[in-house]
Amino acid sequence: MTFEAKPALQGLRPYEPGLSAEALRRRIGGDAPIVKLGSNEGPWGPLPGAVAAITAHVAGLNRYPDGAFHELRGRLADITGARPEQVVLGNGADSILINLSLALLRPGDEVVFGWPSFITYALSVRKVDAVPVQVPLDADHRYDLDAMRAAVTDRTRMVYVCNPNNPTGTYVDRDRLTRFVDSLPEGVLCVVDEAYHEYVTAPDYPDGIGELVVAGGRSNVLVLRTMSKIYGLAGLRVGWGVGPAEVVRAIDTVRGPFEMNALANVAALASLDERELLAERVEATETGRASLAEALHEVGLAPIPGVANFLCVPLPGGVDAAEVARQLEERGVIIRPLAMFGMPDGIRITVGDPDDVAAVVGAIRAVVPRMLAAH
Ligand SMILES: Cc1ncc(COP(=O)(O)O)c(C=O)c1O
Repeated sequence: MTFEAKPALQGLRPYEPGLSAEALRRRIGGDAPIVKLGSNEGPWGPLPGAVAAITAHVAGLNRYPDGAFHELRGRLADITGARPEQVVLGNGADSILINLSLALLRPGDEVVFGWPSFITYALSVRKVDAVPVQVPLDADHRYDLDAMRAAVTDRTRMVYVCNPNNPTGTYVDRDRLTRFVDSLPEGVLCVVDEAYHEYVTAPDYPDGIGELVVAGGRSNVLVLRTMSKIYGLAGLRVGWGVGPAEVVRAIDTVRGPFEMNALANVAALASLDERELLAERVEATETGRASLAEALHEVGLAPIPGVANFLCVPLPGGVDAAEVARQLEERGVIIRPLAMFGMPDGIRITVGDPDDVAAVVGAIRAVVPRMLAAH
């Protein structure tokens, strides 16, 4: 007897994560360091308080975690000014994305988002037989909120705004986002994905939680954050968000009983106390991003001005993104070709620590001019 997946899964493939350091080591051998800049992880590891909390909790792992995440919810509510019942937690923001689909979408419902953008929006919508509506970015590679508003129909149940957008690194400003949210028909939830929020220092970049949900009191906005990036906890999986209590409750109803594990819980709590180190990480990322952009310009490429911990680079016609990635991998550097994200002629490079930036800049100087000259 054979088993067939349900029709909604036909044509879908499992999410392909960026190449891992171990997989590249197996391929190229040697023992030179591998520089992993393909998945937008923070390069610095968990904050010291999180490491201490994880270590201290290991001996208690025979116990289930608090399935309601009472303490973490309370702390996040205190910090943001939201009520605890407005705080949602997940095994990474990814998990909240699929739980949103499970909780809100019926077959045939439409979900509008920009494109190129985060592939998980499309996957999580299709898994429940709902319909992704992908609206091209504007000429500056930003979410085109007017075009997205025009794409909203009476079948639309959710819209995603990735701010800043992965993979382009661009953002929508406060005025445009606020106008967009306020223009949506009743019953359409706007999910603002702020996975890279902490990196952005532009004064007109909106804090979705503080401004739209808490101070603005909007009941049609859910804002997502993650500890996978600047907090250095990608391997542990901590995602959270703030939004309408009834949506949070619906997600709590569909999610697994122990959505977040006990180590993720204690690490997240401890990380929230380390504000100063975060500021240093933001500054170092800005410096690294500027050096990387300069080096890319020097070799004749034009990175999109980005505000997060990565840069997106559209390649000139004829230069194959997968081949650029492959040649950098030969030199031990992992970046991300963007076909899966809807940009077949683009690459994305994470801004790592100063050594990572120096390594990728060296590899780009060795590889890119030759490839450009060949076209
Ligand atoms: C825009 C965006 N949203 C969500 C996520 C998922 O984050 P998490 O690691 O918390 O699942 C990512 C991760 O790369 C991302 O880029």
